[in-house]
Amino acid sequence: MQIINLFPLTIVKEKILIQENEREQLVNEIKKMKQQDNEQQQNSNAWTGDTKGYEFLFSNKLFSDLSKKISKVIVDYLKTLEINTSLLDIYYQRSWATFTENEQSINYHTHSQSNISFAYYLLKPKGSGGIIFRSNELQNEIAKNIFTSSKLEKSLINKANAFNSDKSMFDLDQDSIIIFPSKTPHATMPNKSGLPRISISGDISIMLKESKGFEHLMPNFNKWKKF
Ligand SMILES: [Fe+2]
Repeated sequence: MQIINLFPLTIVKEKILIQENEREQLVNEIKKMKQQDNEQQQNSNAWTGDTKGYEFLFSNKLFSDLSKKISKVIVDYLKTLEINTSLLDIYYQRSWATFTENEQSINYHTHSQSNISFAYYLLKPKGSGGIIFRSNELQNEIAKNIFTSSKLEKSLINKANAFNSDKSMFDLDQDSIIIFPSKTPHATMPNKSGLPRISISGDISIMLKESKGFEHLMPNFNKWKKF
């Protein structure tokens, strides 16, 4: 029997290597941001710079080398999807750090205002929690809710696998980057390492350099009219 999987969600994973002194510098800069955030409180949610007024991390010169390395991988991701990047202007619309203390995590969310999102693991101790992706649509759901966890408990489903799961977890190493469509729901597993985990995340917008003849993609904002 041949099994054919159609219509995959494609996620790109790559390594970006940085010097240890650069890592230390960036970690210290992120720690400073977190300390300056007066509203921080101890709870089960990680500190995420995008909601704390630190959503333009790549405007900080310290992060420019790293952002250039990330840009290359983003272009490779677009090429994987056979998108002709020469017709596009590509922007980091925002970028931020996440700081996850022991036992903290990030709940399911999407980045609905952007096209492409990424997470780069600047500090990722073993056991500090992976990222989970959730499908919007279970292609193989032949009956409503047939693959929910209660069906596993009741032995209707023998085991979770790639064909019947709406979630998939990746526990990546430090210096890994993961790139995915912004509309994909994702969350993080709780940090169980006893050490902080720091990721750098970003949202990317793509727009046409020249929109003539295209109906749906975003026209270049240099042609927009402000009122
Ligand atoms: Fe996210």
